Amino acid sequence: MKKGILLFVLTVFTVLTAYPAEDWGRNGHRATGAIAEKYLTKKAKRNINRLLDGQSLALVSTYADEIKSDSKYRKYGPWHYVNFPFDSTYENHEKNEAGDIIVAINKSIEVLKDANASKEDKVFYLKMLVHFLGDLHQPLHIGLAEDKGGNDFQVQWFKEGTNLHSVWDSKMIAEYKMSYSELAANGKGLSKNELKQIQQGSIKDWMYESRALCKNIYDNTEVGQKLWYPYMYEYMDVLRMQLQKGGIRLAEVLNDIFG
Ligand code: ADE
Ligand code: ZN
Ligand code: ZN
Repeated sequence: MKKGILLFVLTVFTVLTAYPAEDWGRNGHRATGAIAEKYLTKKAKRNINRLLDGQSLALVSTYADEIKSDSKYRKYGPWHYVNFPFDSTYENHEKNEAGDIIVAINKSIEVLKDANASKEDKVFYLKMLVHFLGDLHQPLHIGLAEDKGGNDFQVQWFKEGTNLHSVWDSKMIAEYKMSYSELAANGKGLSKNELKQIQQGSIKDWMYESRALCKNIYDNTEVGQKLWYPYMYEYMDVLRMQLQKGGIRLAEVLNDIFG
């Protein structure tokens, strides 16, 4: 009997660790991909279509999470985020030798710009890039090492126990109850000037913008806090703007590579 319990516990543990939370949830990533499609140049669209055999950016945006189920791709785990203390900077912190989201984005761009790279590699890194530009805009993916980007920051979400990372990855988006295409179609109306502001800057500038939001979230959230409608009221516009910025900036990066 004891053996049975042990086996059960081990099985549950194995299943839970083998299937980690998906970043930005599926719908967040798909919305970012769908928004990006609206800002691509004709030429970039043509080149991307050729590589992806007509698959949409929304469809391929979740690929980097799906491959987490295959141990062959384990080394890409740390590429989804970067963690460093609030009183430090990306430049000054001790880098993860296995890479981080900045390394990941730069590597993907490098392969896609390399005339000698194989089509297979280009397809792989294009799918990864679409995903990582989404993760770059999830504030807790520019997080703190001590709580694994909020994965160890316990909170309550409505009546359920969960963690802050998960609230920002998927719980808020799920509670908002819009499909990814509805999210993509209902972005904030932007003036030409606002759009230009969003398109400007470097990958690192965009990372520091997410970092500032991350700090704001930590200043406003306590361990064990009961998060529900008032939290959505406070942060849903911020979250939706991050999806929109992620899409617009993904298109900027892709237009630079393929346009
Ligand atoms: N694991 C450790 N830190 C993380 C972060 N910031 N985001 C996602 N997963 C993580
Ligand atoms: Zn991710
Ligand atoms: Zn995540």
